Amino acid sequence: MKILITGGAGFIGKWLVEKCPIEWEIVVLDSLDGQVHQTSPDFAPELRARAKCIQADVQNIEDHIAAIEGTDVVLHLAAQTGTGQSMYELSKYVQQNANGTAKLLELMAKLQHKPRRIILASSRAVYGDGAYTDGQQIYYPKGRSLSNLQQGMWDIYGEDGHKLTPLPMNAHHLTKPTSVYGLTKLWQEQLIHNFCDSQNIDVAVLRFQNVYGPKQELGNPYTGIVGIFTNAISQGNALELFEDGLVTRDFVFVGDVADAVVKCAIAPQPINATIDIGSGQAVTLIEIVETIAHLLGKTADFRISGRFRVGDIRHAVADLSAYEASFGNWQPTSLQDGLAQYLEWYLERAPLPSSALQASLAEMERKGLLLTKHA
Ligand code: UD1
Repeated sequence: MKILITGGAGFIGKWLVEKCPIEWEIVVLDSLDGQVHQTSPDFAPELRARAKCIQADVQNIEDHIAAIEGTDVVLHLAAQTGTGQSMYELSKYVQQNANGTAKLLELMAKLQHKPRRIILASSRAVYGDGAYTDGQQIYYPKGRSLSNLQQGMWDIYGEDGHKLTPLPMNAHHLTKPTSVYGLTKLWQEQLIHNFCDSQNIDVAVLRFQNVYGPKQELGNPYTGIVGIFTNAISQGNALELFEDGLVTRDFVFVGDVADAVVKCAIAPQPINATIDIGSGQAVTLIEIVETIAHLLGKTADFRISGRFRVGDIRHAVADLSAYEASFGNWQPTSLQDGLAQYLEWYLERAPLPSSALQASLAEMERKGLLLTKHA
């Protein structure tokens, strides 16, 4: 079995390489993007020891066809991942996520031995705000309007003015991305389906919720809130919770995600499915901050600012029924256990200054994408 992992030097890739059975031949292709690999600008020695590592942008991989020939399973992880950043660096996201996938598929078409399966690391960002209900019907809101957000109406309301209830996200729901990032993840899915249907290649699209855990690059200010909040709380720095602090996210432990990917790679039967991957638990921003602070034995200095990021969604949690239909019972790591493992790893590292985060927030503000609700 030979597996090609694009973006394999990244956060999820590192876990995956460790969890791949020892008899598998692994090729890692990664551009070592400077934004992501700030504290680790090269392939780690343990990665080099286990996999053939190629430094290349997925948009430019024809030169490496010989190393890729004979691949059985492709795992496509390479992507830009910042929701907020995608709203002003549009062309970078379109280029790297959509064009990068197209180039990868063009290369697949040239291989003598076609892979039997492509696994895509997609995102729940493809759902946008997802599906809501009033208890009777399902609604797919258009996304929150700027004028509602500016009035501090954070939630989603039906036509009669009643607050609607979010439903766990599953692949039967419509896809309506609210960010450029989400749009590019949907294009990746569609490109892969289109290509694989015509080539008779099996597809597994995995829509991840917010993945966290050890090895998540700390130097990247677009790396997700578990890292950002941990960094602030551990150093006694102030942190900001957007909206009213009651945004919810589903935090899924990276080890669980890697296990799910390995199951997909191994499965002997065709998968041909879109599978949501999360913990199944919706956690508010306030809860995540307080849980991290509690585990660190610190008090979190947070401010609920009433500011909001344009393109953000309000609530997210995964419906795990598609996973369970394919692979049986899903037993995710609890948030307490996952965070404890994360913090143990984090505390062995030098804390990072908050300047990169402040600069990324200032940039969003300058671009008019980090706004404040009217008083
Ligand atoms: C994240 C991932 C994305 C992934 C998606 C679904 C990152 C950077 N993004 O998007 O790649 O596909 O989950 O799995 O990991 N917030 C604050 N204060 C801050 C920063 C953020 O309150 O200082 C809020 C944001 O407005 C948002 C929430 O925290 O409501 C989560 O933000 P973030 O970690 O950037 O991730 P997502 O946008 O959920």
